[in-house]
Formats: sequence, structure tokens, C-alpha cells
Amino acid sequence: MADWKIRRAPAIKSEITVPGDKSISHRAVMLAAMSNGPCVIRGFLTSEDCLCTVSAMRALGIEIETPEPTTLIVHGRKGQFTAPTRDIDCGNSGTTMRLMAGLLAGQPFRSRLVGDASLSKRPMRRVIEPLTQMGARITAEGKDGRPPLLIEGSKLNPIQYVSPVASAQVKSAVLLAGMFAQGKTSVTEPSQSRDHTERMLEYFLVRPQINELTVSIHGGQIPESREFDVPGDISSAAFWLVAAAAHPRSRLLVKNVGLNQTRSGIIKVLLRMGAHVKEVVEVDQAEPMGSIDITGTRMKGTRIEGSEIPNVIDELPILAVAGALAQGKTIIADARELRVKETDRIAAIATNLRAMGAQVLETEDGMEITGGLPLHGARVDSFGDHRIAMAFAIAGLFAEGETTITNTECVSTSYPDFDKQLELVMKESRQPQTPVISHVPH
Ligand code: S3P
Repeated sequence: MADWKIRRAPAIKSEITVPGDKSISHRAVMLAAMSNGPCVIRGFLTSEDCLCTVSAMRALGIEIETPEPTTLIVHGRKGQFTAPTRDIDCGNSGTTMRLMAGLLAGQPFRSRLVGDASLSKRPMRRVIEPLTQMGARITAEGKDGRPPLLIEGSKLNPIQYVSPVASAQVKSAVLLAGMFAQGKTSVTEPSQSRDHTERMLEYFLVRPQINELTVSIHGGQIPESREFDVPGDISSAAFWLVAAAAHPRSRLLVKNVGLNQTRSGIIKVLLRMGAHVKEVVEVDQAEPMGSIDITGTRMKGTRIEGSEIPNVIDELPILAVAGALAQGKTIIADARELRVKETDRIAAIATNLRAMGAQVLETEDGMEITGGLPLHGARVDSFGDHRIAMAFAIAGLFAEGETTITNTECVSTSYPDFDKQLELVMKESRQPQTPVISHVPH
């Protein structure tokens, strides 16, 4: 157990890079493992979530070397996996469990996916339904479709699935299963979710067909082994973007960050809130990557709702903090999904913002924040959720007095060195003289 104590900090002036993209890192290992030979993956995110996917692939007989900390060499075996000899532990990672369920549905063996206390409370019916329709037998051992999942793989039939949720995890699970089905599998989503799986399939020379909100794949294709560079994670950059955007004298350049338009909605939201933001795409391999240059301002409130929600779903905790720092109302609606993330993020954000002096009205699918009230330091919990811990560390930079964030170890699921980077950014900005973060191990 470790706590962070955060103190108010003035402006940020810094150039940073952020660790590799979490969603892309998971997919890169999985597709490389399904490919026909060795694949070098550079810039891999070595966070607990992504390392769960690495262990899962190893448990299925895939050899993975790590010549450098963020470089992997994955030896693809043309979609031939061996039966795991024990449970596959997905830790805290919903992406590992849901995507692995898709991959395992078509294997000629049994497997069992387990997770930590938080993952064991998350809904899995959304992947069990379509995979069962394809012919897999999946038993959710928890209540109401919750993990662990016992998967008895079998020969799969292709389906045309219309998903009730805009979820990249559901879409990806169906597409990965579709790789092992005979014929054409399609998945249609209600609005666009992140398209990393489709891009990665294309990059590995497996041709998905994309028609507006429908993605289809012909089963039986083997991905070509290739090298791949993972861009920086815009969802990790989000914390720094808001820290800079909310302070009129801040200037921040984030380099080598992913700029995929199905993920970069935070830039549009911050522009609407009045921040000065410039993005430049520098490389477009499978994923666009470049820099974001941001200058802070006194921000104003905005509405975040509808089809914009899936694009910024992981950024909503830090955007809610931005709302509390902006003048006027910020309304987040149509975001019921937040209730089934690593914690109930609507409740967690509302509780913590209120503890720091903000005015928040919690709704069933979002919240209304009346921004501009001064924040004060408080003792707030992460609720075991990495993005809540980091969002409130940033809130603490704007609060009078000292903010304590409890249970911060969860941050290693996506951003193991966030606290070190916070110290570094503040040192680079040469202010304040006293450290803004200190650690209190228990
Ligand atoms: C992810 C998709 C999103 C996101 C999660 C990662 C992915 O979840 O919140 O952090 O890598 O596909 P949903 O698909 O449940 O919306």
C-alpha cells in the first residue's frame, strides 16, 4: 500500500514522452503470436495489464523474448496454441480477459480465465453472447456473467453480430474469434469505438473489410510476421494535457504519442474548453503518431456526450477534473459504461471531486460539474483504479494545501512510473522549490 501526497504547483513547462499505448500493446502481442514467425515489437508498455497478456500468450506455448525492457520478440506459431496447464491470470485487465476469450473460443482445448477482485466484478456477458453464438461453450463462474470464465473451445461458425455496446473489446473479441471461424464474421457497433484491432490486422496483412460501423473478417488467414512500433499512449498523455491546459502559463509538448482519431477526442474536448492545442502527425505506420503542443488558459465548461463518449471513455476521469477547474458547467452524459470500469468511475469521481470542494451532481450515466470553485487538498482514494489515482494527483496540483491519494499501487496497471514523471515534469518546470509529490509507503 502506498499513498501520494501532492502539493499545489504553478505552471508546467516541459517536453515529455509517455509510455507505450496499452490497447495497442495488448493487440500487438496477440497478433504477433498468431503470425507466421518472429515479430519485433518496440515501445511495448511493460505495465501489469500488458504483462498479463504476455504471460497469457506464454501459457499458450508462445515464446517471447525481451532483449530490452520495452522490446519484445514474439515467435508466432501460425495460430497454433498449446493447451494451458493452469488458469490464465488476467489480473486487473479487462482487455486481456475479453480479447483472450475471443482468441480461445476457437481453440481445440479448455482454458480458464481468472482476474483480480475488480476484474471479477466486471460484466463478461457482452463477449460470452457472441462467442456462444459462434459455437464456443463458455461458463461464467461468477454471478450474472462475471469471471472466472471457463472456455471450451470448438470449431466456430461465422456470425453477423450487432453489438448493443460501442466497445472495442467486444468488437475485438468477435474479430479474433472470427480469425478461427470458417467464412466471414462481421461485427456492427452502435457508434465508433477505437479501431486498433482493425488497423493491426491490416498491418499484419490480414484484410478486414470495413463498412461504416461494420467490420468483417474472413477466417483462416495467418498474419504475416512483422516489426511494429507502439506509439505513446494518448490516455496516459491525457493527465499531462489537462495539467497544462488548465494553467494559463503552462506550455507542454508531448512527443511520439498516438494520434488515432478514434482515440484523440480529448484534443477536441480541450479545444472546446478554450485550450490552445496543436497536433502534428509525423509517422503513420499502422497507427498515426506525432506530437501535441498545448498552451494553457482559463478553460470554460463543455458537454461531453453521445458518440464522443467511446472516443474519450478512458479520459473522462481527468476530463471531469478539467471540468472542475474550468468556469461554468461541464456535463458528461451517455457514459453509463463508466460504472463498469475498474471501479464505478462516476461514483469515484463525484466522491473525490466533492471531497476537494467541487460541486458535482451525479447522474445515472454521467455527471454535472459546476466548475471554477477553488479546490482544496483532501484525502481521496484511488478505489483501486489507476485512472482515478492519476486524475486526482493532477487535481492536487491545483488545490490549496496538501492532497493525499491512497492506494496508488494500481497505477502500475497502465503507467508504472507516473509518479517519477510527475516529479521530473515539476523539476523541469523548475517550480516549486519544494517537491510537489512525496511517497508514504505503508
Ligand atoms: C479498450 C477498450 C475500452 C477501454 C479500455 C481499453 C481496448 O473498453 O475503456 O481501457 O483496449 O479495447 P471497452 O471496449 O469496454 O469500451
